[in-house]
Amino acid sequence: MDFAIRPMTSSDIPEVFEIDKASAVLYWPERSYHFEVETNEASRPFVAVDPEGKILGFIVFWLIIDEAHLANFAVRSEARNRGVGRALLNHGLRVCYEGGARVSFLEVRSGNTPAIHLYESSGYHTESIRKQYYQDNHEDALNMNLDPEAYEKLIQAINTGNGKPSPGTAFEHTPKTKGPTA
Ligand SMILES: CC(C)(COP(=O)(O)OP(=O)(O)OC[C@H]1O[C@@H](n2cnc3c(N)ncnc32)[C@H](O)[C@@H]1OP(=O)(O)O)[C@@H](O)C(=O)NCCC(=O)NCCS
Repeated sequence: MDFAIRPMTSSDIPEVFEIDKASAVLYWPERSYHFEVETNEASRPFVAVDPEGKILGFIVFWLIIDEAHLANFAVRSEARNRGVGRALLNHGLRVCYEGGARVSFLEVRSGNTPAIHLYESSGYHTESIRKQYYQDNHEDALNMNLDPEAYEKLIQAINTGNGKPSPGTAFEHTPKTKGPTA
């Protein structure tokens, strides 16, 4: 599947919101995306787009000094399992690394097997469990960390082409409006 990754812009938000709403029970309101794209200087939001410009998925990191926090992440259900998610994760982690991040943190539902597989295969490990954390079904939350050594290893793998990069990113895609980050 051909796709490119670029910074999220304001005009992407309706499509991103629809993907989030279809993917998560506790999805963000649209205004949160406006804040991320237009106001939050710590935010590193990206989208994956197909050659027609359709958004396949998105990821939002918060870069706080040397920490990359994964804040939100989803791929369209019909585009999953084709490497889009891994490519978004690698891209976000690489941009945050270049901005000074040396560790990464995230939180995931304990039953979210595909996401946990993706994170573990990228070098994250479960640091702690928050019992019955999620309000909708009282599912546990796993707090996962990407430690400095594992982060460095992943960046090296990405840079040398061994970070399971996606077959996509073969073309450039220019959005109609400019995003906030590189
Ligand atoms: C998590 C998510 C973003 C991953 O996106 P994606 O484009 O499908 O990811 P990829 O195709 O790059 O990789 C998926 C990996 O999970 C694996 N996977 C898929 N289903 C799986 C399952 N049921 N059990 C174990 N592994 C599974 C795939 O084999 C692949 O691993 P591989 O590269 O080693 O083969 C996507 O599943 C999604 O949007 N889920 C709903 C929202 C969500 O859970 N977001 C994360 C919140 S923390």
